[in-house]
Amino acid sequence: MGKGERQEKIYNQALHHTEMDLDKIDINAEPPIEEPVRQYYFIAKCREWVEGFERKAGRCPSFFTQTFGCQMNARDSEKLEGILRAAGFKAADSEDADFVIFNTCTVRDNANQRVYGRLGELKGRKRRNPSMRIALCGCMMQEPSVIEKIRTSYPFVDLIFGTHNIYKFAELMYASLETEGMLIDIWEDTDRIVENLPTERKYPFKSGINIMFGCNNFCSYCIVPYVRGRERSREPEDIIREIKRLTADGVVEVMLLGQNVNSYGRNLKHPLTFAELLQEVEKIEGLQRIRFMTSHPKDLSDELIQVMRDSKKICRHLHLPLQSGSTRILEKMNRRYTREQYVELALKIRSEIPDIAITTDIIVGFPGETPEDLEETIDVVRTVKFDNAFTFIYSKRTGTPAAAMEDQVSEKQVREGFDKLLKVVQDTAREQAAKYVGSIGEALIEEVNGDDDGAQSCQSLVTGRLSNNMIVHVPGDASLIGKTVRVSLDECKGFYYMGTIL
Ligand code: SAH
Ligand code: SF4
Ligand code: F3S
Repeated sequence: MGKGERQEKIYNQALHHTEMDLDKIDINAEPPIEEPVRQYYFIAKCREWVEGFERKAGRCPSFFTQTFGCQMNARDSEKLEGILRAAGFKAADSEDADFVIFNTCTVRDNANQRVYGRLGELKGRKRRNPSMRIALCGCMMQEPSVIEKIRTSYPFVDLIFGTHNIYKFAELMYASLETEGMLIDIWEDTDRIVENLPTERKYPFKSGINIMFGCNNFCSYCIVPYVRGRERSREPEDIIREIKRLTADGVVEVMLLGQNVNSYGRNLKHPLTFAELLQEVEKIEGLQRIRFMTSHPKDLSDELIQVMRDSKKICRHLHLPLQSGSTRILEKMNRRYTREQYVELALKIRSEIPDIAITTDIIVGFPGETPEDLEETIDVVRTVKFDNAFTFIYSKRTGTPAAAMEDQVSEKQVREGFDKLLKVVQDTAREQAAKYVGSIGEALIEEVNGDDDGAQSCQSLVTGRLSNNMIVHVPGDASLIGKTVRVSLDECKGFYYMGTIL
């Protein structure tokens, strides 16, 4: 099949998605083997449990989800919430709920510590509400040492599962509701992708979409490949169908999610590049904006730059993690690009798409990093002029190659280097933002602004996001949420603008 023909097929095959009607499921029959039908069967079983709860307690059982970590985890939580709601649970606004689930992250140790802290607080709540169920899932649960710690220190947890069997949430929840004691189900890996389970959306007008799962890059500091497994791409037909369904439901902006979207599609039966996928997504009527995350510099193609440049819908924002500006450190990190290659790529993107915002991630204190290496990183920040950068202190992750490396950097050197880098990053970001003052942009209004800004405090403000991912506050009210408006950027407040709707 030729490329054009295949793309045509993808587009045409994107049929309307149908969730299963729970009332048609015979819950007294044996559970089906096939997915996702099997999970719908267990959602129906959970719903029967919920009805029993309501009869006894005289109220609906409530749930509370807490998400740690990245956008992929946030999207997974929406899937968990979709299932909880389909089963009849109602959302609570605090952890005083009947079913509490933490979707965890383990990318840095402070993410783990936060989970333990929150778990400690749950203990007292469960004492007050003994019928409360506590579930843990996500990346942290893929680590055997974590499971051991929870078993011994937090025995009041009811259900633990991992990243590979999250699609079985309904089945696991049902098993846990029906039994006493801790139920643990962790898989080492999976090659499965289960489609068409119910999901919730935090925002009615925008949504994340997984286009791939896992990671094959094994950057030497990073735990993600170990806890998320090998890279798997979703079929383009499934992605297009999901986005069409979302746009029919009012979504105008999508964020395509993957640990390395630039390697999308390589392992599909009929390989397709990420740039080709983007062109298909662009065709979807009603969709206004396309974002994606994250791009690995080593795989970012000229084809992608051209597609971005020529697109009307792809936002003017690229998140391109640098990690370090020292080639020596990049090599030890197994990033597979040099400082020169990164700078050349970033400058090429800036010259092809002049109004693009480039943001990045940087790690300070990787084993063996010297103050001279950090100077090289700072130099790249100045050369590329990042519009924003997330700076992280290196965190040793057991099981990764970097954890076994000698010369871990002293805390004092890390602190000093971090502060120095942060200052340059902030100065650069401010300078970049100031460039756009006085210009006009399009903003998608996302929410009512909670803390109004000083002098304007008696005026109601809403918060919008520009194509380049910058935030602008404009006078307006909740009726604007989900709408795209033309705004003038009147004043720059460092990392956001004050503007007016034109
Ligand atoms: N897949 C993405 C990022 C995933 S993790 C990518 O390749 O860019 C998000 C960020 O966390 C990374 O970009 C990195 O900067 C940071 N990070 C990952 N592991 C870390 C560690 N052990 N210590 C500190 N920061 C880390
Ligand atoms: Fe981690 Fe590297 Fe994969 Fe990103 S690309 S998730 S940093 S291993
Ligand atoms: Fe954390 Fe897992 Fe994302 S470790 S950053 S939640 S993939």
